[in-house]
Amino acid sequence: MNVNDLDTPHLVVDLDGMEDNLNRYQAYFDEHGIGLRPHIKTHKCLAIAHMQMARGAIGITCQKLGEAEVMVNGGVDEDVLIPFNIIGEQKLRRLVALTKRTKLTVAADSEYTIRGLSEATSKAGVEVGVVIELDVGGRAGAETPEIGADLAALADSLPGVELRGVMAMPTTPDKRPFLQKTLELFDARGLPHPIVSGGSTPASFTAHEIPELTEFRAGEYPVGGMKHLSIETHSVAQCAGRVLATVVSRPTANRALLDAGSKSMSAAIFDGPKGGSMGHVIEFPEANFYGASEEHGNLDVSECDPQPQIGDRVQIIPVHPCPCFNEHDEMAVIRGDQVEAFWPVHARGMIR
Ligand SMILES: Cc1ncc(COP(=O)(O)O)c(C=O)c1O
Repeated sequence: MNVNDLDTPHLVVDLDGMEDNLNRYQAYFDEHGIGLRPHIKTHKCLAIAHMQMARGAIGITCQKLGEAEVMVNGGVDEDVLIPFNIIGEQKLRRLVALTKRTKLTVAADSEYTIRGLSEATSKAGVEVGVVIELDVGGRAGAETPEIGADLAALADSLPGVELRGVMAMPTTPDKRPFLQKTLELFDARGLPHPIVSGGSTPASFTAHEIPELTEFRAGEYPVGGMKHLSIETHSVAQCAGRVLATVVSRPTANRALLDAGSKSMSAAIFDGPKGGSMGHVIEFPEANFYGASEEHGNLDVSECDPQPQIGDRVQIIPVHPCPCFNEHDEMAVIRGDQVEAFWPVHARGMIR
């Protein structure tokens, strides 16, 4: 099947670009002796997760239990990290079940989480690994190294949980002192830290500047996005996750309308040199994708030469691949102009 035979809008993944990314990121982490633990929340696809494992990933990261269940059910079941506080009876029941099917580690940043995990797992006669999340990015995590070490000591003292170390997000080199101070406190108190887990695709190639890291969680690296294009970690060819769309109207001389709106692209906006953008149009790089309604994408094409015509088909690099993939049931996997396969976005919508 030729890519031109696909109806639009359609999520496509360019295999040459994606394989290039899988290989170059794995090679970097291998070279520096850091385990790559891909975050599957970007692609949510079993076939891609298996490709990552086959290239040497030490395990996977899943943001939610539901994503982990999908991956384990699909045979990506060696070693799973969930960097999220798992609380509440419903989730703890599922967590206990998952510990019997994979080596499972979860993050915690409170006594509440740690005690809940310990109670549920020890009652069931199982064990779960725990890493203490450190707040280096203003999201979740222990606010200071001292709080992190106190939480670790609690985890180390309770049944049903095995203290495995720390995690943080994102781990740019300026975050190293926080990690170092925390690990010093761990060592002073005899607390184990076999896992020191860093993360984020933009921070990947500086991971070696934090020698304490044992592993790294990168999610967006297989497919990239507009941010990665702008910081040049990915070329256009390496931005392998795209939305195929059609120009359906030219309402004015300066505007073109696409059949891909927020339900195809996601609502993510990138603040670029031309203002807010919802995607980079590969065939018309001068076009500015300045806004969308659910099913219409709005392009300012005033700077395009030649001009897009009604009926033109374009590939658009989304701003944020994770929610973009979440908008689609399946991706067409293409090599050159040939469609090689259709892969489901297996863990689409797994928000619990
Ligand atoms: C905890 C955690 N680890 C790793 C990642 C992967 O980072 P990126 O999306 O930059 O690849 C994310 C992304 O949000 C995350 O939340």
